[in-house]
Amino acid sequence: MRETISALLLAWYDQNARTLPWRGIHDPYRTWVSETMLQQTRVQAVLEYYARFMAELPDVYALAAVGEERLFKLWEGLGYYSRARNLHRAAQVLVNDCGGEFPHTREELLRLPGVGDYTASAIASIAFGAPVPAADGNVLRVFARLDNSSADITKPAAKREFTARVLEEMPKERPGPYNEALMELGALVCL
Ligand code: ADE
Repeated sequence: MRETISALLLAWYDQNARTLPWRGIHDPYRTWVSETMLQQTRVQAVLEYYARFMAELPDVYALAAVGEERLFKLWEGLGYYSRARNLHRAAQVLVNDCGGEFPHTREELLRLPGVGDYTASAIASIAFGAPVPAADGNVLRVFARLDNSSADITKPAAKREFTARVLEEMPKERPGPYNEALMELGALVCL
């Protein structure tokens, strides 16, 4: 059964994944910016902002150096401006303290301003192939359905339970696509 769940999921994803500009690349900067934009915002709305952002700020050096006013202009309309402020601060930490390189592990990524559990795990798995679960609300819901559970996924205990399930079913050879496949199933099918 274990093999079947991830195998079916990945086969579905390979056939049905939307082509999105942050997919199919292994660039932690792009994963970080896209996952941060996607936190409280729908994919359709993010696309335009992401394209403008990357055209103007293509790497962590450009982001660290940009003026705050210009950055907020690029973010205008996305809301939750603390996300932009944290991206800016974290870019400066990466440039000043890390030689412009992203750390590869979830634990180190968690030390960056504004990077929480979900984002750290998304970067570690999608950009670096680390076998860590990146479970947002969509993903927790997919597993609650899969396990035929009526638990409230906003409660910490249920979060812990289903995050553990995500890890349990994880295929160790494709953690990034597996995490993204769960997000995609939650966004497109398991509503
Ligand atoms: N929502 C958050 N991250 C996502 C991703 N990588 N793909 C699709 N939807 C998402």
